[in-house]
Amino acid sequence: MHFKFRTIDMNTKCSCCSSIEKSTKNDLTSHWNKTYNREIQKLGWYEDNPEQSLKLIEKCKLNKDASILNVGSGASTLIDELVKLDYKNIIANDLSSNALDKLKERLGNDSSKIKWIVDDLTQSTELNNLVEIDLWHDRAVLHFFNEPEEQNCYFDLVRKLVKKNGYVIIASFNLDGAEKCSGLYVFRYNKEMIQKRLGSDFELIEAFDHTYTMPSGDTREYAYTLFQRKN
Ligand SMILES: C[S@@+](CC[C@H](N)C(=O)[O-])C[C@H]1O[C@@H](n2cnc3c(N)ncnc32)[C@H](O)[C@@H]1O
Repeated sequence: MHFKFRTIDMNTKCSCCSSIEKSTKNDLTSHWNKTYNREIQKLGWYEDNPEQSLKLIEKCKLNKDASILNVGSGASTLIDELVKLDYKNIIANDLSSNALDKLKERLGNDSSKIKWIVDDLTQSTELNNLVEIDLWHDRAVLHFFNEPEEQNCYFDLVRKLVKKNGYVIIASFNLDGAEKCSGLYVFRYNKEMIQKRLGSDFELIEAFDHTYTMPSGDTREYAYTLFQRKN
């Protein structure tokens, strides 16, 4: 079953995005590629400083050669920060090649330090061939997967890729969060729901709610979670 061609309801203007077109599209890859044609700093999830993620990554006390997979990376500044912190094995994934191109452009020469993977988390062809990783990081990606099959593929991939003693950071809209982002309906989580989906092999290390202020000044409620896979 293919999910790239679900209907996207773009008829309600979404405050995540500055210039939503009034149209019905059915191609998520082109939706996300178009989204990143806009000025990155104006996107509704843009962070100058991804401090909540960095705080959780610090807790993992990873070696500098640990493999860190940032899924649905977009043009996130987290990658810049990980390079500055001298992590040597960073993998950036996204469905949108346009998003990753924007990020590569910003990183300049440092872009050669990153492994780039354009792939769909819900029907992976490349990510599932990776060797096991030390850290899975997701901010604002999981909640776009509304269909049980998409969620199953996502969590199967987490379980396939994360090493024993490895870590999973997932930051999703929480149960008080918005119903839509980027014109798309979202499926919201709390820490218990994420724990249930990961399974008992993963232990919750830390969780907190965070109110993120968008460039527009609106706010979005997130649930941040850090899990460790048991040995
Ligand atoms: C709201 S943005 C968040 C971007 C980034 N994580 C951040 O915090 O700035 C969601 C990202 O998920 C990506 N995405 C959506 N569906 C995806 C999929 N099926 N596989 C991989 N990436 C996906 C989008 O292209 C977009 O970059």
